[in-house]
Amino acid sequence: MAVDTIDALSRVPLLAEMERTQLERLARSFRERRFDAAQVVTREGEEGAGFFVIVEGVAAVTVRGETRRELGPGDAFGEMALIDRGPRSATVIAETGLLCLALSPWDFRAFVEENPSVAWSLLETMAARLRAADAHHDH
Ligand code: CMP
Repeated sequence: MAVDTIDALSRVPLLAEMERTQLERLARSFRERRFDAAQVVTREGEEGAGFFVIVEGVAAVTVRGETRRELGPGDAFGEMALIDRGPRSATVIAETGLLCLALSPWDFRAFVEENPSVAWSLLETMAARLRAADAHHDH
């Protein structure tokens, strides 16, 4: 069954401040992507070309083999490699069947540049991750 993209996007905290008309426009750029349990969505160290929002299912984020986080419906990932055009910083692996909505790098950039509240949320997440990574190194 095809997902109601607008409905799914309206449940994503990162997009909470977007207006309905903007969300409708954005929904046209997202593509449905499905992954089976145990399938790798992004692989640490490799190139990647997608920004993902989880609609259904659970995924694990691992860095150098260590699990850092679980992601579920409403969570987004895959922004880092698109922002700095570097390799994926983590492996994201489906723990259950996963239904995602995905944006291409060029649509992702346009979307972030047009939506300062989204850019700010991404910065908050990245600042928190940087602090956590620094704390990790101090141990
Ligand atoms: P990217 O590096 O493009 O691909 C892997 C994604 O996993 C990354 O973007 C982030 O969205 C996410 N990610 C990386 N490190 C962490 C972390 N420590 N905690 C949660 N998510 C992460």
